[in-house]
Amino acid sequence: MRLAFYQFAPELGAVEKNRERLAAALQGLDVDLIVLPELATTGYLFTSREELLPQAEPIPGPTTDLLQKCAAASGAHIVLGIAERVGDRCYNSAVLIGPQGVIGIYRKMHLFHKEKQLFDPGDLGFPIFDAKGVKVGLLVCFDHFFPEAARTLALLGAQVICHPSNLILPGLGQLTTRVRALENRVFWVLANRTGTETRGPQSLIFTGCSQIVAPDGTLLVQATPEEERVGLIEIDPLRACEKRVTPLNDLFADRRPAWYRL
Ligand code: ACM
Repeated sequence: MRLAFYQFAPELGAVEKNRERLAAALQGLDVDLIVLPELATTGYLFTSREELLPQAEPIPGPTTDLLQKCAAASGAHIVLGIAERVGDRCYNSAVLIGPQGVIGIYRKMHLFHKEKQLFDPGDLGFPIFDAKGVKVGLLVCFDHFFPEAARTLALLGAQVICHPSNLILPGLGQLTTRVRALENRVFWVLANRTGTETRGPQSLIFTGCSQIVAPDGTLLVQATPEEERVGLIEIDPLRACEKRVTPLNDLFADRRPAWYRL
């Protein structure tokens, strides 16, 4: 499987422009599964729900329709981070799109900081989807801090975890996602954004350094903090089905759930 991320700086509030930029970046790519950043059509630093809602879209909607056309043209599956509008609710969602259309939606469970004032918390659990015969789980940004989220996906059989992000705490997500990949023996695609957003006194610098990690924690590809780029690597997804770490240790069979307090 040819696995990829696209790292760039979405422009705050410029949905049509960001959408066209995504389509242009996807054109001509020879990939099987590509992950785009969190809130890739809207940008991040909204100051109120009233400001965010008109920018949010239903799924399916104009952006997923456009990306479906990209998927149909290239054969790629695409994971997009998007503000999802459902009536007057709004979720920070990740959506998996294939050549036939929307395959599945994940709604961010662990909202970060002032996202709690903007978005509704996720209510779809941690579903697993199929992308070209490979089991895929979706998480969004701050979810990386909660090992239960990745563990749940891995126990459900995820081979690749796709992780659209807008990380702002330098180095943290890049570190935890290597550990999550290692402790669950899964591939991990962290698609982070770059750039800075400023609203009045508040400024956020997004940390880039998108990466693809192997099930042994090895960094396979990593972007720099600021570049716009596609990162791409060919992987064997079956590697994520092997949970043995020594001849006598299987990471899943050795668990002691009766003793855990979760
Ligand atoms: C984040 O969850 N966007 C930091």
